[in-house]
Amino acid sequence: MANTKIIVANWKMNPESSEESKKIAVEIKNSIKSFNKNKIVICPPFVFLNEISNIFLKNEKISIGAQDIFVGDGVSHTGEISSEMLKNIGVKYVIIGHSDRRESLDSDSLVREKLFGALKDGFKAILCIGEKERNEHGDHFHEVKGQIESAITKLSKNLIKNLIIAYEPIWAIGKKESEAVKPEDLHEMTIFIRRVASDILGIKEAEKIKILYGGSVTKNNAKEIIEKGNVDGLLIGRESLKTENFIKLIKSANHMDR
Ligand code: PGA
Repeated sequence: MANTKIIVANWKMNPESSEESKKIAVEIKNSIKSFNKNKIVICPPFVFLNEISNIFLKNEKISIGAQDIFVGDGVSHTGEISSEMLKNIGVKYVIIGHSDRRESLDSDSLVREKLFGALKDGFKAILCIGEKERNEHGDHFHEVKGQIESAITKLSKNLIKNLIIAYEPIWAIGKKESEAVKPEDLHEMTIFIRRVASDILGIKEAEKIKILYGGSVTKNNAKEIIEKGNVDGLLIGRESLKTENFIKLIKSANHMDR
């Protein structure tokens, strides 16, 4: 497993102004340049993508991601943003199927369509999966298995190198840090995810997939989650907008053995 982690900042529908977004981006850029060896991906709302992308131009350690992607032909799609537009402003990553969107907008089949489209268009795709709740019967494993199967079955082998899976159990999102997944449960789930992927794509291909964890990660629990959870990185929501905490989180992710 690679030692370089991927830390994804999902800003969701924040902050409210362009000034605030630039302030956060500049602070991150200036504070981490001396020590960061990991890959940081900043995913601002669409309206700020261009200006945030300019701040990180030619920065090898920090990339820009979009929080969603539109797939479809033609130019007549009011309100949508095309892959080309994203590419032209330097977007390299795309989050797909975040639970916020799955809740009301993105069905399993649309998630699959977006995943295939994003990978074909050359993006690194962060596919979000995760169960609504856990019970003692282990139904969460079935739920996660179904999401993976629906999204990646028949994915062509040459696209797999750009596939990242973010395991984000819905019950752990937006909670207190003490309610994040337990590292040992995460470890078990990452093995399961890789096994399901391997049944579909073959072991060699499944090993190429990076697995991230998201859900109430903070500067305090990030290190333990990565070290004991068997993940290649993290997807951070709220903590990524608290600049000081986010920088501490990145620092702690730089001092790990894994
Ligand atoms: P959180 O959000 O870190 O605020 O729990 C994670 C996410 O929804 O991606």
